[in-house]
Amino acid sequence: MSTAPSMSPATPKPDHVPDSLVYDFDMFADPGMLAGGHDRALELVKEAPPIFWTPRQGGHWVLAGHNAIFEASRDIDRFSNAMVSYEQIQEIQASMPPDAPKLLIPAPITYDPPHHAVYRSPLQKAFSPKAMAESKESIVKLARDLIEAVKADGHCEFISAVAEPMPVTFFLRIFGLPEEKQLEYRALVKEHFSASTDKDPGRIQARLRHVAAVMYDTIIDRKDNPKDDLISLLWQSEFNGKPATLNDLENYAVMLFTAGLDTVVNGMALGAVHLARDPALQAELRADPSKIPQATEELLRRYTFTVPPRFVREDTEFQGAAMKKGEMAVLMLPTGDLDPSEYPEPEEFRLNREGKAHIAFGAGPHRCLGSHLARIELNIVYEEMLKMLPEFRLDADKPLHYHGGHVWGPEEVHLRWD
Ligand code: HEM
Repeated sequence: MSTAPSMSPATPKPDHVPDSLVYDFDMFADPGMLAGGHDRALELVKEAPPIFWTPRQGGHWVLAGHNAIFEASRDIDRFSNAMVSYEQIQEIQASMPPDAPKLLIPAPITYDPPHHAVYRSPLQKAFSPKAMAESKESIVKLARDLIEAVKADGHCEFISAVAEPMPVTFFLRIFGLPEEKQLEYRALVKEHFSASTDKDPGRIQARLRHVAAVMYDTIIDRKDNPKDDLISLLWQSEFNGKPATLNDLENYAVMLFTAGLDTVVNGMALGAVHLARDPALQAELRADPSKIPQATEELLRRYTFTVPPRFVREDTEFQGAAMKKGEMAVLMLPTGDLDPSEYPEPEEFRLNREGKAHIAFGAGPHRCLGSHLARIELNIVYEEMLKMLPEFRLDADKPLHYHGGHVWGPEEVHLRWD
């Protein structure tokens, strides 16, 4: 288990923020969240304004209510995904010595329109429902092998045994990376996730460089020797009339690494915790596995876990809050999906919940590209666990501890079964 981060110092409140909109919440180190995960999110929903300013982490806005999040996600004129604009990045890259490694900028998530669509479109087909459905069989096999490996033990630490190796292995396959790179890659995944509170740009670049370096040989090879994999497909793309470059390919690689792995790992872990605490639900789903996709959706809503950042483009007033150019506003999707104005009794897990769809995959132009894959992976892991294991529970001697930040989840999940 990694050491819990300590609260960042409080920044003085700027004059344009009224006292009524201040709420003290450290998204990386709030003690309640580290101890109780989504219990703290439920508390926030009751206590904090739907839009608030926190003095922690340098001082920033938090959009916590469903409506505020939904509107801001679609309001690209006021809320940018780019901490540094596309044009500025191009200028920085052009000013660097020709042999220096280029900056790695996860694409398309950190781009705004019109560049965003240019970089999103080559991924659409690769991650379409059809393409992902074709991978189902190999994901089932992966899940079965991992669960079979721990079944006879009567216990496992679910994240290291299943939730982490499953998406990482599959990811390496679709990318076309050789299987022997797996261990090196998994070590990188760990390094990257455990450093999620470190926002130093130099160190972030160094970590992303490691990711790109593991993929480098395969990326170069596929340029001249295309195969049936994602890297080869991306080499065939054009961006603004220019052929793909090594930097484009590396940007995709780091993007899919950061967006597609940590998320699935934490989603599975949160789902497994709920199932382990709810034997009646396990029994219901074992008796009728056709209800599993519904359970997956309600688990995604009840334990929504990503908090994407936005940057205010110009001084503006948004739903009564005066915001200044350059300020950060995070979209607190976990509280959005627990907002009682959209989801009555939001704390209750209801298989047959009706009404608005959840926003666990975001909303607007940046809505998750990997949602079809994520759903398949989640459905399969729950289905195979319920099929292959008897009733499982949390190990009472190993209490849960959570991490916060941009992706929430438990640090370890110790399961037991008889
Ligand atoms: C349960 C698992 C997942 C969750 C909850 C999730 C959630 C999200 C969210 C909330 C966003 C929007 C971010 C924003 O608005 O700035 C997003 C974007 C994205 N996700 Fe996922 N994600 C998951 C799995 C995946 C997977 C498996 C992949 C691919 C391998 C993936 C690829 C992406 C990409 C490429 C984007 C950026 C889209 C864009 O900017 O146009 N995600 N995801």
